[in-house]
Amino acid sequence: MTEDPQTAIDEVAGDRDRRVYEHSAGDEQEGIPFVGAGPGDPRLLTVAGRELLADADLVVHAGSLVNSELLEEYCADAETVSSIGKDLEELIPLMRDAYEDGREVVRLHSGDPAIYGAALEQMDALEHEGVPTYVVPGVTSAFAASATLRTQLTLNEVANHVAFTRPQGKTLDPEEDHISEFVEMGDVTTCVYLGTHAVEDTMDRLLDDGHDPETPVAVVYHASWPDEDVIEGTIGTIAEKVEEAGYRASALVLIGDAVGGDGYERSYLYGDWANRGSDGDDAASGEADD
Ligand SMILES: C[S@@+](CC[C@H](N)C(=O)[O-])C[C@H]1O[C@@H](n2cnc3c(N)ncnc32)[C@H](O)[C@@H]1O
Repeated sequence: MTEDPQTAIDEVAGDRDRRVYEHSAGDEQEGIPFVGAGPGDPRLLTVAGRELLADADLVVHAGSLVNSELLEEYCADAETVSSIGKDLEELIPLMRDAYEDGREVVRLHSGDPAIYGAALEQMDALEHEGVPTYVVPGVTSAFAASATLRTQLTLNEVANHVAFTRPQGKTLDPEEDHISEFVEMGDVTTCVYLGTHAVEDTMDRLLDDGHDPETPVAVVYHASWPDEDVIEGTIGTIAEKVEEAGYRASALVLIGDAVGGDGYERSYLYGDWANRGSDGDDAASGEADD
């Protein structure tokens, strides 16, 4: 690969790909699938993902974020290569050459490729090289964490919104860190990815910004893995607990009242709206909670 990968990204600007209208998510398509592996437990991989892995000759995966059990169970016969430590200049020719040699190639991302996956830049670079690509979604770790906590990220009268976010650091400047603003809104469940190492800094900033130290926070380490761990506390207490546990990576930090799964009120869906006819209201049009 001799060209700067940014060329491929700049090239797609403004063009809407016809495949957007020709295919649905879940369709098997021509090219290299970018598959979401889910949060860890091999059983949380989609059926579509499992079928593609079973046929794969080469699987390029997200290293330690993908459970090795999943690779052993679903693609034992494929060559597996970790993408950790490889730049686009190495990854793209690796996948392109294998594809052009007629091998079945799968790019396996942790969780869902759409969340902090940097999948699109690989897809655009491959497309630029003449290799078609598409996405097979997966279960993002926030959903696994929510299931572990036996709650909902949106909860009637508690949380009406969800934010998927990350803290400031090498990638995000302080003015791009909106965690405090999400918490300020009150009815948002804030799901912090890529922030395990920064729980103390994040909580200190929230305290400095005047947020209630009693606001619930849960940290779910390795959601759905055999060594999954749940640490519960508040903005005021969670940092010390995480420090004690020694986790520096691979955890999801959830902030907000929905974390506890209590204090909510029954929804309209199984109340007043349940027996309404098809009169075009939210329930009948499929826009109510489910
Ligand atoms: C590069 S991001 C990838 C996220 C992934 N695409 C997803 O949808 O979950 C990695 C971050 O996701 C979170 N993460 C990934 N897998 C996790 C799991 N099983 N349990 C908790 N957090 C996880 C952690 O915050 C980790 O730092």
